[in-house]
Amino acid sequence: MMTVEHIYKLAIKLGVQNDIRGRAAVERTLAKARKHHEELPAKKKKHFDADRLFNPYMDTRFFGDRNKRVRRVIVGIDMDSSEVMLTHELNRMFPKKPIDLIMSHHPLGKALTQGLSDVMRLQVELLHLFGIPLNIAESLTKKRLDEVSKNTQAGNYFGTIDAAALLGYPVMCVHTPADNMVARFIFDLIKKKGKRLTTVGDIMDMFMEIPEYQIAMERGNGPYILIGDPENYTGKIAVTEITGGTEGSKDMYEKLAHFGIGTVIGMHLSPKNEEEARKHHINVFIAGHMSSDSLGMNLFLDELEKRGIDIVPTSGFTRVSRFRKPKTKSSKRRS
Ligand SMILES: [Fe+2]
Ligand SMILES: [Fe+2]
Repeated sequence: MMTVEHIYKLAIKLGVQNDIRGRAAVERTLAKARKHHEELPAKKKKHFDADRLFNPYMDTRFFGDRNKRVRRVIVGIDMDSSEVMLTHELNRMFPKKPIDLIMSHHPLGKALTQGLSDVMRLQVELLHLFGIPLNIAESLTKKRLDEVSKNTQAGNYFGTIDAAALLGYPVMCVHTPADNMVARFIFDLIKKKGKRLTTVGDIMDMFMEIPEYQIAMERGNGPYILIGDPENYTGKIAVTEITGGTEGSKDMYEKLAHFGIGTVIGMHLSPKNEEEARKHHINVFIAGHMSSDSLGMNLFLDELEKRGIDIVPTSGFTRVSRFRKPKTKSSKRRS
């Protein structure tokens, strides 16, 4: 049976496997962290976050008992103290099916304050993949990274973790590994469609074949074309706003247009980024936030389901299983 720590390690492994930048870029990040650790003076070493030595996605962490065995996990896109109470109530109502772990997609605690700006570094290689020279990609990303890092310092981010600790539940957040999985999924789909993806309308049709986006549409929050018309040529497509922590720099649109990108696919876009994209004639297709995050989490959670773990979806997360557990006698006995 999997423990909290096993699930954490599996999330990292799958994140690396699906990292758009490739394994070498991930290894470089880890090697840098190891070198930094080696060179630290002894008195500073004790404050070094040891997870950095093996986890390239610091927005993915767990809090609480690492050895707790997990048979059932409650999952939401955001989890706060009310979801902790909900978990406790469910466990009171269904004592034979206890939830062992609370999982959020969006980062919590230090996974947010230290981890989010950290993983944004992957946007450098991502932008480079779409033709922006590394030096420009790096300078654009650093500016934005600084902004995000400052914006996440002043809040109160341990509420969920503190509430869960009082009631004895471990908490985990799985962010960039799941976003890597959805980015990989969309990349592969675009590749598979090839020349059949001619117009922005074709992108819409492609997304509407995916159950998570159909559900989002029913919930009044479906994908849409933010900039451009359905009959517009897509040109070269960039998937820039799916993984990499959070939205990128507004100045990247000028560069994307300059280096030949015609359409950007993203989860969501702020008005200032929209304005820039418009100015530079880039079509923007918004896949949707909850739907894309759900898709990424679903791809990850299928791997848990394969290993015998039950999933309880909540808080904006729509569960679609691409792995159906066969109804064997032993699985019936477990539930
Ligand atoms: Fe996400
Ligand atoms: Fe998100």
